[in-house]
Amino acid sequence: MSKTYEIAVIPGDGTGPEVVAQGIKALEALSKKYNISFDFKEYDLGGEKYINEGVLLPDQTLEELKGKDAIYLGAIGHPDVKPGILEREILLRLRFELDLYINLRPVVLYPGVDTPLKGKGPEDINFVVVRENTEGIYAGGGGFFKKSTPDEIAIQESVNTRKGVERCIRYAFDYCKKRKGKGRLTLCAKNNVLIYESDLWTRVFYEVHGEYPDIEANYQHVDALCMWMVKNPEQFDVIVTSNLFGDIITDLGAMIQGGMGVAAGGNINPEGTAMFEPIGGSAPKYTGQNKINPIAAMCAAQMMVDYLGEEEAAQALLKAIQTVIVKDLKSLDAGKMGCGTSQVGDLVVGYL
Ligand code: IPM
Ligand code: MG
Repeated sequence: MSKTYEIAVIPGDGTGPEVVAQGIKALEALSKKYNISFDFKEYDLGGEKYINEGVLLPDQTLEELKGKDAIYLGAIGHPDVKPGILEREILLRLRFELDLYINLRPVVLYPGVDTPLKGKGPEDINFVVVRENTEGIYAGGGGFFKKSTPDEIAIQESVNTRKGVERCIRYAFDYCKKRKGKGRLTLCAKNNVLIYESDLWTRVFYEVHGEYPDIEANYQHVDALCMWMVKNPEQFDVIVTSNLFGDIITDLGAMIQGGMGVAAGGNINPEGTAMFEPIGGSAPKYTGQNKINPIAAMCAAQMMVDYLGEEEAAQALLKAIQTVIVKDLKSLDAGKMGCGTSQVGDLVVGYL
């Protein structure tokens, strides 16, 4: 019997809808070939909806999303909406309220993709960042005092709970064990300065390590880790880190793996649902031009299929994506691919 997965689709803003359409094309092709099917339901959320109707993320939508097998997201972000509104009220609210406490971001250089790192190839750039996704400085604590006066004070607090830190670190050790890579987990923090937050992370990290004697555990300060990601990326297998550091180092990761056009991620609650997205944002200047690279969105769809437990289908999609990169694309940059957004989708489907 074929299994049906209920997938919520949030195309979102800018080029989100165009790239998500290519991912859906690939998923539909997979369902013809493998014994699976997808029941897609689209949700209209994002900047346009907010501008026209004042609606951000209705409670009822949130409730429906909780019951889905997975959520497929394009991008949230609109040039005519003040920064912080859509991000906090849609994207971060989804992460927080669905308790998607893991943000899993692979940094993999596929064959045929150029990296700006001279002399490094696919065998050197292949690691995964496990980013804590519901706490830290993203929790939004703090406030202004004497706002807009010369004596103004702005306080931005970082919230790190024992429970939140431990579940993330535990996930990272488990993931590292399952991945069968180098068997090395690196904690990225800043315990020479953040003497509370990073102290908690470091203590919990080494405590949990006791349960995983086969995994090598090491520590790096976030600034040094950025340097090593450029200099010796081959040392990394899995990196675990707090929310803000994870945000920053995965943009660097996206660049060394060939750019935002290939970087995808999953927001995961291992006990609940999960949301998959290309991490590049809404790229408003390319909207509707059939120029944006949909590979990252297709990689996000690929991660989603893998997460659903359909390993064979996921492997097939990965192979098809890699074939298109090697054989068909001139570049991964928008407008320089040598073909349009929807043609890239068709090519991937062709190899499936
Ligand atoms: C990301 C993005 C978001 C984040 C923004 C849009 C709020 O940069 O997913 O990495 O900071 O988490
Ligand atoms: Mg980011």
